[in-house]
Amino acid sequence: MRLVPLPDAQAASIWVAHYIAGRIQRFQPTKDRPFVLGLPTGGTPVPVYAELVRLYREGKLSFAHVVSFNMDEYIGLPTGHPQSYRTFMHEHLFDQVDMLPENINFLDSNTEDPQQECARYEQAMSDVGGVELFFGGVGRDGHIAFNEPGSSLSSRTRIKTLTPGTIQANARFFDQEEELVPVRALTVGVGTILDAREVVILATGSQKSLAVERLVEGAVSHMWPLSALQLHPKTLVVCDEDATMDLKVRTLRYFQKIEEES
Ligand code: GLP
Repeated sequence: MRLVPLPDAQAASIWVAHYIAGRIQRFQPTKDRPFVLGLPTGGTPVPVYAELVRLYREGKLSFAHVVSFNMDEYIGLPTGHPQSYRTFMHEHLFDQVDMLPENINFLDSNTEDPQQECARYEQAMSDVGGVELFFGGVGRDGHIAFNEPGSSLSSRTRIKTLTPGTIQANARFFDQEEELVPVRALTVGVGTILDAREVVILATGSQKSLAVERLVEGAVSHMWPLSALQLHPKTLVVCDEDATMDLKVRTLRYFQKIEEES
């Protein structure tokens, strides 16, 4: 695991955006060999997407040969709902860069057959050669995508019921009305994320510090699904100072030193 501690959320977000941009550029994607990118929603990635859009506008980055798979989608929101993850992604990234519509993948949570839809999504990732880089945020309780505490660490794309804590946290996007937050979602599984060739996590703010501590110093546990990333050969965790507050000083210094020397 590589941990990159940075002073604040802006610095951490810019770092991640430039890291993703660099990975896409070095990969030199083509139509037949696209860069496959897993993407999150939430408040954390917003400044990352803003920076990726800026790089695109400056002509430094193209998404023409990027294929995306979003991690999750609420069940029960009509298509075009302002808080659906599809709407979010179009607003913050897809409509502002040169992504080809046919390269954008979402879970269709309004389907009649969610199980079939989840199987289709897994197959689509596999058909395109697997995910090169899964970018993710983290829930306060250590969830990744919508894999809530207790999720199987080998889970695949499926329906998950959200915990009261996640509903409470996400009520900020629904005028603070918890009753408006969908209670279920379709989400890629922990195993799906572990299959990516690289996983990049961005954690900013003090509310994420316990989850970061469990990810970096804790044991692998399905009660902190993010901790499964300890089993991944290439996990990169980028944090602001607030998100590292629960790490031991010893741990933090160790990772800081590695970054200083690299
Ligand atoms: C939601 C999403 C996650 C996201 C998490 C944290 O539950 N399903 O993918 O990482 O929220 O969101 P935020 O970045 O707003 O704290």
